[in-house]
Amino acid sequence: MSNYIERFTAGERVLHWIVTASFFTLLLSGLGLFSRLFNGYFTLFGGGGNAIMVHKIAGIVFFFSSLYMFLKHRRDVSTFDEDDRRWIEQRGGYLSREEAHFNIGKYNPGQKLFAIFIAAATLILGVTGLFIWAPTLFPRWIVQLSLMIHGLMFVGTVMFVVVHVYLATIGNPGTIEAMLYGDVRSMWAKRHHPKWYKEASGENP
Ligand code: HEM
Repeated sequence: MSNYIERFTAGERVLHWIVTASFFTLLLSGLGLFSRLFNGYFTLFGGGGNAIMVHKIAGIVFFFSSLYMFLKHRRDVSTFDEDDRRWIEQRGGYLSREEAHFNIGKYNPGQKLFAIFIAAATLILGVTGLFIWAPTLFPRWIVQLSLMIHGLMFVGTVMFVVVHVYLATIGNPGTIEAMLYGDVRSMWAKRHHPKWYKEASGENP
C-alpha cells in the first residue's frame, strides 16, 4: 500500500493556478475601480489606465480558464448523493465537537457548491464586464445595472474565495499538497474522501 495517492494531474494543477493568478490580478487591478478609497492600488500598475488594461486582460484569462476548470470538474461537482445529504444535514461536522465521519467522494458538498458558485459568478462577472467594457454600445440602464451586479458579485466572490483558501490550507491540513504536488497522503484521503479513496485506489479505507 502506497502512502500517497494522485489527486490532480499536472494539467489540472496548472489550470487551477492560472485561475488563481488571474483572480488575484483582477482583484488588485479592480479595487481602485470599485471604490475611490482603493485608488492607491492603481500605483501597483503605474496608473488607472494601465490597471484597466490589466483588468481586461486578466478578465479574459479568468473567464475562459475558470469555465474550462468547471467543465473539467462538472461530473464530480454537479451530483449530490445520500452521503452528501448527510454531510449537509450535519454541516460537515464543522459546528460539532464530536469527530464526524462522512462517506464523501472526490469533493464534499461544500466544495461542490463552491465550484458551482464560482462558475455562475464567472459567467455573471464576464457578461456584466462586457457591458461595462463598451458602455457606448449598450443602453445606459444596462450599463448601470451591470456596474451594480459586477460590484456585488465581486464582493460575494471574494468572500467565498477567502473561505476556500482558509479551508484548503489552515482549516484542513494536508489539503494544499493536492494542488502543490498532485499527490495527497493516503491517510488524508481516507479521512476526508473515503469513497473517492476506495474508487481511486481499489482499497477499502
Ligand atoms: C491562494 C489561493 C488558493 C489556494 C491555496 C487554493 C487551494 C486549493 C486546493 C488545495 C484545492 C484542492 C482541494 C481538494 O483536493 O479537496 C482547490 C480546489 C479548487 N479551487 Fe482553489 N485555491 C486557491 C484559489 C482559488 C481561486 C481564486 C479559485 C476560483 C476563483 C479556486 C477554485 C477552486 C475550485 C473550483 C476547486 C475545486 C473544488 C473545491 O475544492 O472546492 N481556488 N483549491
